[in-house]
Amino acid sequence: MCGIVGYIGRKEKKEILIDVLQKLEYRGYDSEVIATIESKKLKNYKAIGKLANLREKTKSYQSDGFGISIGHTRWATHGKPTELNAHPHLGSYSYVVHNGIIENYQELKSSLQSDGVKFLSQTDTETIVHIFEREYDKSGNPFDAFSDTIEILEGAYATLLISEISPDTIFFAKHGSPLLIGFDKDEVYFASSDTPVIGKATEVYYLEDGEYGYTKDGKVHLFDANGEKSFNKQALTADKVSAQKDGYRFFMEKEIYEQSRVMSETMMGRVLDNTIALDELDDSFLDGITSIKICACGTSYHSALTSAYLFERISKIRCDIEIASEFRYKEPLLTPDTLFITISQSGETADTLEALKMAKRAGLKSLSICNVDNSSIVRESDSAILTRAGIEKGVASTKAFATQTMVLWILSLYIAQERKTISKDKLKSEITAMLHTPKSLIVTETLHSKLHRLSKRYLHGHGFFFIGRDIFFPLALEGALKLKEISYLHAEGYPAGEMKHGPIALADSELFTIALMPKTMHYEKIKSNVEELSARDTTILAISSLPFELADDFIQTKYDSHPMLEFFEMMVVTQLLALEISVRLGNDVDMPRNLAKSVTVE
Ligand code: AGP
Repeated sequence: MCGIVGYIGRKEKKEILIDVLQKLEYRGYDSEVIATIESKKLKNYKAIGKLANLREKTKSYQSDGFGISIGHTRWATHGKPTELNAHPHLGSYSYVVHNGIIENYQELKSSLQSDGVKFLSQTDTETIVHIFEREYDKSGNPFDAFSDTIEILEGAYATLLISEISPDTIFFAKHGSPLLIGFDKDEVYFASSDTPVIGKATEVYYLEDGEYGYTKDGKVHLFDANGEKSFNKQALTADKVSAQKDGYRFFMEKEIYEQSRVMSETMMGRVLDNTIALDELDDSFLDGITSIKICACGTSYHSALTSAYLFERISKIRCDIEIASEFRYKEPLLTPDTLFITISQSGETADTLEALKMAKRAGLKSLSICNVDNSSIVRESDSAILTRAGIEKGVASTKAFATQTMVLWILSLYIAQERKTISKDKLKSEITAMLHTPKSLIVTETLHSKLHRLSKRYLHGHGFFFIGRDIFFPLALEGALKLKEISYLHAEGYPAGEMKHGPIALADSELFTIALMPKTMHYEKIKSNVEELSARDTTILAISSLPFELADDFIQTKYDSHPMLEFFEMMVVTQLLALEISVRLGNDVDMPRNLAKSVTVE
């Protein structure tokens, strides 16, 4: 993860860097830094923790006239979040910032140390700057030294390097981690994603893996393994306006409330009166496809798990789901009759991206379901369906999950319609249910204040079990993940029928069970499972449209004409519960400890 920024031009650099870093903070917030070269001299400011600390530290600093500058927001991978481990890493006359992991850093570090180089930090990144200076000392040419450095590095990186030996130049390279170059007249920007440079740059170039180069005098010189190359900039659309809290206490809260509206956006032009239309897919898209494999991580993995029930039940097509980080190293058997789907909110998740590249190498057709247009995963895929959730800032994903699940439901119906595995009546009834989902996602004041009141009873105890069956099992996993992420309480999701095979041993009055009890799906079965827990004195919060007398606490849902409506309504309840517990515990809801919004390391 980590976010990097660079700027070369005449404007006040501190303001530009801090503004971009603020918008990149979702990528990590263990430390934040800015560094400049002005009048040929390096300067840097570092602060541990969130950006407010860096703002405070740089209060009296103002950059003057033409200069070059870089900045970094860190999610610690090697070494604790201390000031010494914060970027930029300094050699004798150069600074580097980096996002990714240098896999051969131990070996490089040992060789540098045996040459007498002293390391100040425990990071992998510091090796980059020392190799650069070692190579420069040999060749006397800064760009040759940078190219030689890049050649030696293994792993994933997006990196920017500045040096007093070339005080008007920023060197850059990308391999496996995102980096783009923004342009406005003779000014050049670098950033890990495009939204932060909207309003600053008017055109953009998204670097490809293996590209590197330097920028000087308003010009960018781009290279790859074949030497210098030309490139086409594209206009940077201004419709990705940055998100504001709009009166809500937290971005996550706002995003929960937004779900009803964005769901309509997700369906627009796709869910029609009697048909499903997916213009993103060409007519031959399903030709030769006999099964689906989906790879994703975290919350996106949970939406994938939900969809497996829908693809097999509605589309009558085999569907396997894999956690991307597991898939990568299991030597999977891949055949070209499999449609390979990746799901990612950010479109930058390293494990998911690598899984996609593997599938492509094996000749599979690929489709991504993503919230960010132009992201690495979208660009790498043969086709993409955007979820249209709008910017999601809360690290704990909410509306992205809801819209991913909707897109997958739409896709399952689309395949069923194209393959004729669904009757007209059934398709119509699914569409009717879909069109009701925005209603099931509305947060009423009564619901929110009930969960606020209830939350005070769930702050202690020795853990939570979220349980459900069928599509409510992945929802249980997602509910538990949400709670874990922002409350730091232990929570697990379980298929309700699985409790008796071991986990029920934990049952006592200090164990909290959040029971997802949909009327439309195996109600009697889950009821028995919850009764078994109640008999062992577990504290039960039941969520259902049907009253359940053994519940210690009860949230009554309203929309129970279709399992997916019950799914979405219960999803909102679990999200609000996690939010209210986190608030009571005094945690940072939007930027929980140890996490980052975009996970670009493996
Ligand atoms: C969600 O709340 C998480 N923060 C996390 O699990 C996330 O879903 C995961 O890292 C995958 O991210 P992606 O959707 O951007 O690929």
